[in-house]
Amino acid sequence: MSAEVQTLNNEVEVPSLYERLGGFSQIKKISEDVWDNHMANSEVSTRYANSDAEEIKKQVTDFVCWGTGGPEKYEGKTMLAAHKTMNISHQEFIAVIDDVMRALEKNNVGQTEQNEMLGLLFSLRDQVIKQ
Ligand code: HEM
Repeated sequence: MSAEVQTLNNEVEVPSLYERLGGFSQIKKISEDVWDNHMANSEVSTRYANSDAEEIKKQVTDFVCWGTGGPEKYEGKTMLAAHKTMNISHQEFIAVIDDVMRALEKNNVGQTEQNEMLGLLFSLRDQVIKQ
């Protein structure tokens, strides 16, 4: 099935990544699975030892909704402000991305949408890993 929508003036409109991921409820579910993957991933789990799980899941859900074209507001820190004092390595960055990709697969997100998410996440690399 094509995700494209034919409009009256014959333009082709591609729904936002937010819509193609399934909107708020699906992104919330995916973010919860990402959290579970982080907790089970010895590469990064200790990083979140002092975090409030519900708060991080909410912030990540809002961040992804906002960043993929949804109407939700993200009121957390910028990616630079949130991570700059953490001294995060490239290996940890890849481990977090792996956790996200596995959550997308688990939730049957299509390959095109997976690729778009990967691109979005990777574009944040220099704001997240140590400078
Ligand atoms: C593109 C990749 C990433 C994205 C989109 C992302 C996103 C976020 C967001 C939205 C928050 C919440 C900020 C807030 O509370 O204001 C957060 C917090 C956090 N991130 Fe990331 N993150 C990424 C990579 C990483 C990596 C690689 C690590 C280290 C393994 C990491 C560790 C943390 C920790 C520990 C917190 C919680 C800080 C706290 O409890 O206050 N993040 N991240």
